[in-house]
Amino acid sequence: MQALITLLPGDGIGPEVISEAHAVLQTVAQIFQHDFLFAEHAIGGSAIDAHKNPLPDETLQACLASDAVLLGAVGGPAWDDPRAALRPEQGLLRLRKEMQVFANLRPIHVYPGLRHASPLREERLEKVDILIVRELTGGLYFGTPRLQERIDGERRAVDTLEYSESEIRRVVSLALRLAQERRKHVTSVDKANVLETSRLWRQVAAEVARDFPEVRLENQLVDSAAMRLIVAPGEFDVLVTENMFGDILSDAASTLSGSLGLLPSAALGEGKRGLYEPVHGSAPDIAGEGIANPIGAVLSGAMLLRHSLALEEAALAVERAVSMTLEANILTPDLGGEASTREVGERIRSFLERTVLPEGQTKENA
Ligand code: IPM
Ligand code: MG
Repeated sequence: MQALITLLPGDGIGPEVISEAHAVLQTVAQIFQHDFLFAEHAIGGSAIDAHKNPLPDETLQACLASDAVLLGAVGGPAWDDPRAALRPEQGLLRLRKEMQVFANLRPIHVYPGLRHASPLREERLEKVDILIVRELTGGLYFGTPRLQERIDGERRAVDTLEYSESEIRRVVSLALRLAQERRKHVTSVDKANVLETSRLWRQVAAEVARDFPEVRLENQLVDSAAMRLIVAPGEFDVLVTENMFGDILSDAASTLSGSLGLLPSAALGEGKRGLYEPVHGSAPDIAGEGIANPIGAVLSGAMLLRHSLALEEAALAVERAVSMTLEANILTPDLGGEASTREVGERIRSFLERTVLPEGQTKENA
């Protein structure tokens, strides 16, 4: 198959981890004989520096013209001034909006050998396998009016939380569809005891769920859902929620796996094209040291193969190679190891070649 993949390394550790994910996808292309074409473009703080725009038009057009986009991270202390007119995050938010990727899938998987790396007691992690589906193009992140002003000598600021019925329906229905392939249980998280948007969310969720009689829909308030994620994380299957709650809960849930560095994500819309990014962010404190965990980015690449290119076998092969690398204790410092970003990437690629190709064959003579 042919595919055009846009790479957006971005800021901080983004370039380091994307370079490994890129190499893994190239290995996949060789082994499975696909023709992947890669093109790299600027986004975030580095795009502000180079083009005075966190999402240059050329980058946006390239993303819209490709089959899938793989992004590293945006942001960092150099662009942190709250008064700055241009911020790296604006580039990412606008890209999500322009690509119309309204659902962000963030799977939380606990590797048995890494249970000790989680701050939670190991027995709590036993049944953990959660898919967070975060609404990504609505809510507080995008609502208007949004402003700061001065009234009667006092500064005030406004953000707007707004959801339409169709925005809720499409993301909840995706969550229900995904649950059908899993343990058939969806927890819809809201704040319906306080917020009007949440009351609408709950009504629409109930309506959508009628089309999925085999899936059990449960509603939970966000405060108690946050507690349950820590106390009884094994009780969740698919968790669907609005943008801001999903941002917060997904970072909290990531601690279950032992390191934020392990977690991938996929942002999807109506079509096949998706935006894939590790959940970890730009981690400026370790940027450039070559010790960032590339697994979140590599697994985002696996999600790209699965959801945008329909290459399930290749996606599973990458995921298997990642598991084998972790089992072999090739770990970056976030997981208590000493391996470099590059070493982890190389191991993943060599496991990939070894497990996919028949005994004794190399990719040259396969
Ligand atoms: C995330 C990040 C982003 C968000 C930031 C970088 C804008 O925290 O993807 O979770 O809040 O969506
Ligand atoms: Mg976040």
